[in-house]
Amino acid sequence: GKKTVPYDVIGGEKLGRLVDAFYKRVAKHPDLIQIFPEDLTEVARKQKQFLTQFLGGPPLYTEEHGHPMLRARHLPHEITPKRAKAWLSCMSGAMDEVGLEGEVRDFFFSRLVLTAQHMVNTPDQVP
Ligand code: HEM
Repeated sequence: GKKTVPYDVIGGEKLGRLVDAFYKRVAKHPDLIQIFPEDLTEVARKQKQFLTQFLGGPPLYTEEHGHPMLRARHLPHEITPKRAKAWLSCMSGAMDEVGLEGEVRDFFFSRLVLTAQHMVNTPDQVP
């Protein structure tokens, strides 16, 4: 049959709950909230589309917005190593909340670590 992709395990309803749990944390995180818009509805909608294709599901993000070019799309925002850490900690908390565990979580999270590192475009503020 068809090759199994992580989207088959995580995708759809569970992915939607994960992204909602993630932005709930972003909205409360002191290192993140100042660079995100007050209304997170649209970014959450785009993130569900992006992660669907990131995990091997249908290319929903590209169909609506074109090539992701994620690093370029993040350049208007100051993404520091500290913010990348904060982003990943929100995601880890969200994964706990929706009960995403085991091999599929480890695989997904390790790919997000690499992507988050790639988004960094500004050094941490030196005190
Ligand atoms: C958009 C921050 C990492 C996927 C955004 C926006 C901010 C942001 C501020 C724009 C929100 C808006 O004004 O609409 C960050 C920070 C990161 C990070 C601080 C830490 C490293 C990531 C990662 C991914 C990702 C790892 C994917 C796995 C997206 C997507 C969008 C977005 C898909 C929407 C792009 C669009 O407008 O089409 N992010 N991000 N981000 N981010 Fe991130």
